Amino acid sequence: MYRFIKPIFFLFDPEKIHHFVVGLLKFAHKIPGNKQTLKAVYSYQHASLEKEVFGLKFPNPVGLAAGFDKDAKFYKEIASFGFGFVEIGTLTPKPQDGNPKPRMFRLKTDEALINRMGFNNEGVDAAVERLKDRKPGLIIGGNIGKNKNTPNEEAIHDYVYCFRKLYPYVDYFVVNVSSPNTPDLRQLQEKEPLKILLNTLMAENTGQSSKPILLKIAPDLSNEQLDDIVEIVVETNIAGVIATNTTIDKRDLKSDKTLTQQTGGLSGKPLRARSTDVIRYLHTKSNGNFPIIGVGGIHSPADAVEKLEAGASLVQVYTGFIYEGPGLVKRILKAIALSTR
Ligand code: FNR
Repeated sequence: MYRFIKPIFFLFDPEKIHHFVVGLLKFAHKIPGNKQTLKAVYSYQHASLEKEVFGLKFPNPVGLAAGFDKDAKFYKEIASFGFGFVEIGTLTPKPQDGNPKPRMFRLKTDEALINRMGFNNEGVDAAVERLKDRKPGLIIGGNIGKNKNTPNEEAIHDYVYCFRKLYPYVDYFVVNVSSPNTPDLRQLQEKEPLKILLNTLMAENTGQSSKPILLKIAPDLSNEQLDDIVEIVVETNIAGVIATNTTIDKRDLKSDKTLTQQTGGLSGKPLRARSTDVIRYLHTKSNGNFPIIGVGGIHSPADAVEKLEAGASLVQVYTGFIYEGPGLVKRILKAIALSTR
């Protein structure tokens, strides 16, 4: 079915169609019976898919990556497509518009996207209001960042603000220091600032109800930088890593130059291999000491299994969901269930 709808969707601006489709999805959920029908069609349950990772019980290992539901506006509805967890954000303390439009580009020939959204979001307080009526059952991650105008030296305050606000309402946290679209943000991936940031958040994270904190990293780090990441994760005792965010490496693309030369982060198929390499490297170097959520270029069940075999405990999708359609999650889940039998 998606095969027939996709060419129509792809006639429109990617950001506009995103908002149109989620509007439709929200509307559809208001009609009695639709939620159950969507769930029946797109979900897949099997005991072998259940997994406990960093103390949380996931019904299945396939999640929706950050950036899709930045403002926690439709996490309930999107979950009908079979996701085991949904990550909201990246959220910042103050609302911000992000970069001027257009800022998302479809590289059809490469089955990829380039985006330079720039953390457009309505701010963490607005998201908290929406999360207040969340029902138990769905695991929600809160991905946090800093406002564009906050200098790096003060970034910690932004992360702490978001952390405190979201604390009662999400199940795990993701510290995003790897978006290429906020100037200088990725400098926070350097050893010393990163240690200070993570130690500060861990100091906030005490008591019986402490929540897993994960670090989301860029695929463009060198092996030496990845070695530092392993050291930092162990030293700060955070729960794990999400690998990876989008890449700034735009070599070997086949789409038109007007698209491939756009500023921003590249996601989708061209990112797959590098993201898997990063997962494998981290898993090997750390002796599997901490869980990794694998994300980047998963467009098929085989791509997801590849990430799990490289050492990921869970996976997430974004661009593949757009190119392959909502049936992708179920297809992946069936393949994983088969491979673990
Ligand atoms: C993203 N991604 C992202 N990541 C993040 O941590 N915070 C964010 O706000 C966003 N925003 C965002 C917007 C858009 C339009 C895209 C395409 C991606 C990155 C995303 O979560 C994921 O890490 C990468 O896209 C790689 O996975 P895929 O897309 O290849 O499956």
